[in-house]
Amino acid sequence: MLNVAVLISGAGSNLRAFLDAAADADYPARVVAVGADRDAEGLAHADQFGIPSFSVPYSAYPTRDAWGEALAVQLRASNPDLIVLSGLMRLLPDGLVAEFAPRIINTHPAYLPEFPGAHGVRDALASGAPQTGASVIQVDGGVDTGPILAQERIAIEPGDTEESLHDRIKPVERRLLIDVVRRIAEGELALS
Ligand code: GAR
Repeated sequence: MLNVAVLISGAGSNLRAFLDAAADADYPARVVAVGADRDAEGLAHADQFGIPSFSVPYSAYPTRDAWGEALAVQLRASNPDLIVLSGLMRLLPDGLVAEFAPRIINTHPAYLPEFPGAHGVRDALASGAPQTGASVIQVDGGVDTGPILAQERIAIEPGDTEESLHDRIKPVERRLLIDVVRRIAEGELALS
């Protein structure tokens, strides 16, 4: 059984889908902790599943490194085999990445390396491209620059808004994430 810690910043709808998948006895991973960089709405999903949650508010620390050290203390407590960034809207400090890499993965609402960063959906829409996508990547020290583990194309439809497009991307992200974690847990996908 692969023990997974999930980090979020917002509503945690992808976290919710992952918790639902992991609740299946046949799924080879389970969530052991959920954390956030703020008082995120999505932490409530962990409570509903009886999973420990924590918040390490970014704003409470003088530097990114100090925040990262406090986050690392929380993560070490649950001893995860894998850390999933599921809508964490913060760049992790190098020290934290060095400690847990290559066991950190991230979901992103675009077809990387296209449209990295905090506004992947908005940037794809603004570009006028006919398609975007969803990706699951391994986290390195950069902004969405790590090795791509899975990705899929999604068409941008005429009249799409950021919200309508994001609503079509998220179900794909969830499916890719659930499948990537399953493949890692079953030893089919090696992180290095
Ligand atoms: C997801 O689309 C995730 O890929 C994105 O935030 C959303 C979180 O939604 N992450 C990024 O953009 C990271 N650069 P949720 O809180 O409803 O799961």
